Formats: sequence, structure tokens, C-alpha cells
Amino acid sequence: MITLGIESSCDDTAAAVLDDDDTIRANVVSGQDTIHARFGGVVPELASRRHMEAITVVVDEALRRAALDLRDIDLIAATQGPGLIGSLLVGFSYAKALAFTTGRPFVGVDHMAGHLLSAFLEPVKPCFPYLALIVSGGTTALFRVDDFFTFTLLGRTRDDAAGEAFDKVARLLGIGYPGGPAISRYARQGDAERFVLPRAWLEEGSLDFSFSGLKTAVLNQYRQIGDHRDDRLLADLCASFEQAVVDVLVSKSLLAAKQLAVSSLVLGGGVSANTALRTILTDRCRAAGLQLYLPAVQHCTDNAAMIAFAGRKWLQQKGPGSWSDDVFSRSQL
Ligand code: KG4
Repeated sequence: MITLGIESSCDDTAAAVLDDDDTIRANVVSGQDTIHARFGGVVPELASRRHMEAITVVVDEALRRAALDLRDIDLIAATQGPGLIGSLLVGFSYAKALAFTTGRPFVGVDHMAGHLLSAFLEPVKPCFPYLALIVSGGTTALFRVDDFFTFTLLGRTRDDAAGEAFDKVARLLGIGYPGGPAISRYARQGDAERFVLPRAWLEEGSLDFSFSGLKTAVLNQYRQIGDHRDDRLLADLCASFEQAVVDVLVSKSLLAAKQLAVSSLVLGGGVSANTALRTILTDRCRAAGLQLYLPAVQHCTDNAAMIAFAGRKWLQQKGPGSWSDDVFSRSQL
């Protein structure tokens, strides 16, 4: 069974072709960073318009790279939600139309399920049950994954997602968009001990997250620095901020593993491109005897290969979607 996956939940238009044995024949992503950069965040109306311009080109390119024709596709899977409604509608409707005209089955996929299962795109697959830490621009959450369809939410952010905090802090420091890579670049040259920033551990044993207080603390420090601002101070502030975020993400993941007595952890979402997070998580998991699965960065960020994978599993176990299925903005998991 060859699956065409389509993803358009936020600001990436993506299409992928996946074989039955999980070989990725094509994985195309068209980003919109340059469009949203001057606004310091994703503008929903601009995002959906750009999806409309890109969708045909991206799907055609995926088929071309896979050296396939639409007639060779057995299943079409598309992200149904959560995400920006206008963005979701473009990929979801396009996928439905393709399925309708080719007479192929169609499946709507929960974007979070895609992230939670993205480790299966790697040569070494995780075993159930495992924990998954999903950290992106829209989500920061810990899940227990028992099989391809059973996901239990253990904790999530009560305010900003980790990626959102990176983006907002970068905007207030005026260092560029998207914020994650910009902060990381500065942080690499900085001293993470220079500024004392808060970690929101919340109630004892809580697996929830909170990053808005940290963001405000960075703003206060930045204001205090006032006219003495220079690249050295900026680098130290970025390093201290990054360290605070990573500390909480790593400690809560390890706490969850202990609470649930689960021995494997999978990382997903765009923030998993962060080198400090990858390095510290690797070290701490090794020390705690936890098996860590770090999918390649292109499988952690928004992509359609993970949607194709989750869609095929769904079809095989639960059957095709219905033409009346509609998109949804908030997570159903
Ligand atoms: O999963 P993703 O590609 O898409 C959405 O959530 O829409 O994640 C994007 C997020 C952005 O907030 C971006 O700033 C963050 O991931 N990000 C990073 C890094 N690269 C991307 N955050 C921290 N460090 C990075 N190196």
C-alpha cells in the first residue's frame, strides 16, 4: 500500500509518499518563514493563502520525487486538526478532492498522533508503551503511548508552548524569527549561569508546564540591562533562557517515566531541533537507564510522512474516513 500524506496545519505545506514498509519515497515541505518573519509570528490569513498557492506544487513535487503517478497511490491521508482552520482546510479539502476523483480511500489524521508516532519513520522503532514529549510552536505535552491509537495525555502547558516561548522571547529581544533557531544561535556563545531565571515546577508531581513567567522574567532582565545591551549580554540571556526551558522539559519527562514506570521516551515537535535539548536529554536518559528515541529533525518538525504513517495505521485498523469529516482547531487527544 502506497500512501500519499498531506499536512497543512500551520505554516508548512507538506506532502510525502510512504511505502508499505515505511520507506519514505518523498518528503517535501514548503515553509513560510519569510512571509511571517516581519510579523514575528504566523499570520493565519497569510498562511492559508500561501497554502493555496503551494499545495498543488508540493503534492506534484512529492509524486515526481517518488517517481509515481496519482494512479499508483492507494491511500490519501491528510491532517484534520488541531491547527489553524484556514490552513487545515486547504490540505484537507485538497486531499479529499484527490481521493474522490481517484476513487481511493481517504483518512483524516490528528496532527498530534502524527508527532506521537513519528519515531516509527526511523530504522530503529520504539516498543509500546512509551512516553512522548511533544514540543512545538503550538504544543508542549507529555503523553503515554500504548499502541498506534491509544494516547493518554499526562501533562501539557498551561499557557505558552515551549516553541511559542522561544518565538516570543526572540521577538522581545529583537533577534529574529523563528525564535528557536535564533535564540539557539546566540545561546551557543553564551553563559547559561549568568542570569538566574525561574523554572515553573508547579505542584509537587505535576507533569504540566508553564513558560509565561519565564518569558516575563527574561523581559524584566532585558529591561534592567537597559543601555548596557551588547551581543555578549544577549548571548548570556539567551543561554540562560534556553537552559531554563530545557531543564523543565527534561526533568518533567524523567519524572513522568518514573511515575509511570515506562522505560522508553520519544521526542517530537519542532523544538526537538534544539541541540541543548537533544544533548541534555540524551545524557539524563542514559544516566536514568531510559531508552531515548530521537527522530531525525525533518521527522520531528511538521511533515507529511508522519501523517501518511498514522493514516495508514488508521485505515488498516479502523477503516476509511467519511466525506463528511471536517477539520478541527483544538486537540482531541
Ligand atoms: O513543530 P513545528 O515545526 O511547527 C509548529 O509548531 O507549527 O515547530 C515550530 C517551533 C517554532 O516555535 C520554533 O521556534 C521552534 O519550533 N524551533 C526551535 C528550534 N527550531 C525550531 N526551538 C528551539 N530551538 C530550536 N533549534
